[in-house]
Amino acid sequence: MTISATAREPGKSETVIDRLHSVLEKDMGQVETLLKARAKSPVDIIPDLSEYIVSAGGKRLRPMITLAAAKAVGSSKHATHALAAAVEFIHTATLLHDDVVDESDLRRGRPAAKSVWGNSASILVGDFLFARAFTLMVETESLEILDILSNASSVIAEGEVRQLAAQGRLDLPTEDYLAIIEAKTAALFEAASRAGALSGGSPEHADALAAYGKNLGLAFQIVDDVLDYGGTTSVIGKVVGDDFREGKITLPVIIARRRGKAEDHAFWARALDVSTQEESDLARAIHLIRATGAAEATIAEADAYVGLAKSALSSLPDSEWKTLLGELADFCVQRVH
Ligand code: IPE
Ligand code: IPE
Ligand code: MG
Ligand code: MG
Repeated sequence: MTISATAREPGKSETVIDRLHSVLEKDMGQVETLLKARAKSPVDIIPDLSEYIVSAGGKRLRPMITLAAAKAVGSSKHATHALAAAVEFIHTATLLHDDVVDESDLRRGRPAAKSVWGNSASILVGDFLFARAFTLMVETESLEILDILSNASSVIAEGEVRQLAAQGRLDLPTEDYLAIIEAKTAALFEAASRAGALSGGSPEHADALAAYGKNLGLAFQIVDDVLDYGGTTSVIGKVVGDDFREGKITLPVIIARRRGKAEDHAFWARALDVSTQEESDLARAIHLIRATGAAEATIAEADAYVGLAKSALSSLPDSEWKTLLGELADFCVQRVH
């Protein structure tokens, strides 16, 4: 099988992300205004670097989920816009930090901010955006929302640290991999949907939407991890093979190694040790991930989480928003085909 991402590929038919952008145009306009306004600072590097990453695009998945969650169970108000902007700032801050930690040179199809301004500036501006996210959260006037997002922020950091400790650990159990991605990625999706439900005025739907967000986040990261071994740089906007080059143990590798022959075990052991990895190893890793069926099995795992995300929506009242959230879950996996 081939793996290619179809998100926003020119000439391709409209995706659910495009449709969400269009039905949420007014709300997202307000969110974008907040993102622009709150990135302002008299210290030039801050707005320059922030503007650079914020205007590079990005799918805006998390703020759109926040808004759609609020609308699926109630309505959006200023608090929802502030919340959605806070969520996107937290996401942006983690990307600025993540590219330093992962030594990634490309983000959103452009040189990563750390490649333009350097690691220190990227980390410090990430901190600034994190702090601005907290100001926005306070504007929701909800201690509950503040609690959800501040908790998610510490869980994300724990996930990143846990991942760092797992680097090169060939025998990483699948449960540990899942715990890492649940923390570093799914926690923000979960918080965005739970807090979205609260800001929409329907705490009774918060658990269902939180389960939706968490499972969507897991599926999303699993798909991101498979795309690292077979997507195309022009579509994912990141350099293919970054995970491999830093010895990150992700699900495609766990499965391919488990299914591999004895000589493949020796290959994975050498290649995932950054000190012994060779230039040509990525091509062999991609070959093994496909040949062992690990790519397909990884996608099937993501599919299972998509199923859980969609079934979590079943208790919500029927609406256009509920349908779009369901389609968004499907899209997470469709983008690999
Ligand atoms: C990238 O997230 C980080 C992961 C959790 C894999 P997105 O793919 O949502 O990034 P942007 O915002 O669209 O660039
Ligand atoms: C996502 O992990 C990082 C965060 C959620 C902070 P990755 O390292 O896989 O994300 P990309 O591939 O760099 O976007
Ligand atoms: Mg990364
Ligand atoms: Mg990745």
